[in-house]
Amino acid sequence: MKTLAPSILSADFGNLAQQIRMVEMGGADWIHCDIMDGKFVPNLSFGPLVVEAVRKITKLPIDSHLMIQRPDDLIEEFINAGCNYITVHQEEVVHLHRTVTRIKELGAKAGVAINPATPLDSLVEILPFVEMILIMSVNPGFGGQSFIETSLTKIRTLKEIKETFDYDFLIEVDGGLNNKNIKEISEAGCDVFVVGSSIFSSDNITSSALELKNLISQ
Ligand code: DX5
Ligand code: ZN
Repeated sequence: MKTLAPSILSADFGNLAQQIRMVEMGGADWIHCDIMDGKFVPNLSFGPLVVEAVRKITKLPIDSHLMIQRPDDLIEEFINAGCNYITVHQEEVVHLHRTVTRIKELGAKAGVAINPATPLDSLVEILPFVEMILIMSVNPGFGGQSFIETSLTKIRTLKEIKETFDYDFLIEVDGGLNNKNIKEISEAGCDVFVVGSSIFSSDNITSSALELKNLISQ
């Protein structure tokens, strides 16, 4: 099943509950929370307190993308705050197998993200253990950036590896997705679509989400 995961980074934080209701009415399947520490990425966003608030607002799965240094220090806090998926960056975690194992032991599903310049090869040894791979199609840190076209090849290659070895991890793509490129990204093999500004910066949040959900469900 193709999954639409609106990123609240681009939402109006003064009306977060209302904005989440609007994407729920637009068919959102998950809520993507972009956690940024101003060190791993040049932007500072929010932490477990906001995730706790989101948990009280929605019953949808919360998919937290940890763009932070030393994510091991905060994994338990984010899971206790209500995260269902925890994705850490391969570039930032030295003992990745231990981190992935701990996320699962703590009751969440484990994801690993790679930046646009990080090769898929760096994931080979962790693929048997993860529930999701996040392919960053922009350089992390900000919403509203343009989709990096070479990400399509990365998605297709990862899909081939998944099928060749019969892995069951989800392929998530994050950054610059919109109603013009989302079908091609879906055909390339994406399972989970993270969309921020194309939804929350649009004139109508619900209909934008509905349009994207229809495009990926075709
Ligand atoms: C960027 C974040 C993305 C971003 C997506 O670092 O990981 O989730 O918020 O936003 P758009 O869809 O606007 O690129
Ligand atoms: Zn993200």
